[in-house]
Amino acid sequence: MRRAIYPGSFDPVTNGHLDIIERGCKLFDEIIIAILVNPEKQPFFSIEDRREMLEAVLKTIECRNCTLRVDDFKGLLVHYAVEREAHAIVRGIRAISDYEYELQMALMNRRLEPSIETVFMMPAEKYSYVSSRLVKEVFQLGGELNGLVPPLVEARMKEKVKG
Ligand code: PNS
Repeated sequence: MRRAIYPGSFDPVTNGHLDIIERGCKLFDEIIIAILVNPEKQPFFSIEDRREMLEAVLKTIECRNCTLRVDDFKGLLVHYAVEREAHAIVRGIRAISDYEYELQMALMNRRLEPSIETVFMMPAEKYSYVSSRLVKEVFQLGGELNGLVPPLVEARMKEKVKG
């Protein structure tokens, strides 16, 4: 039984995240999608909203025999991963620019907890420029999100700004 943690902010979940999860399902029996609770950041969506959206959109992907769970965590990722008895941390790498920061994190996490491996995965090329940060920026400036996030997420973003 191979368990991985796929950590992130998921504010909001994008099609790039879903692509990585789908690929991760080829490697792991269980993936816990773990949302970081970060009191220092002002998020667009609350943790509850992000959890709810993730749970809904995960039902739409090809997960083979892999069990997908959504959770949230505070503090050090490796502490959380040990608590959940995970073998690996999955991170998506879109471009070389991601690699530097991701390498630092992976090596720091390895130093803190040598038993857990970080696995880097590449999303489909069509998602190589998609990030939650750009999705929010494009949305807030009135741009089209078609194909970048699941339709449910776009609808929830529109609802949120309507109030
Ligand atoms: O989606 P993001 O914002 O790129 O995810 C970053 C995340 C959550 C993976 C990273 O910030 C993290 O692991 N935070 C938890 C705190 C921690 O363990 N810090 C040390 C990392 S070496």
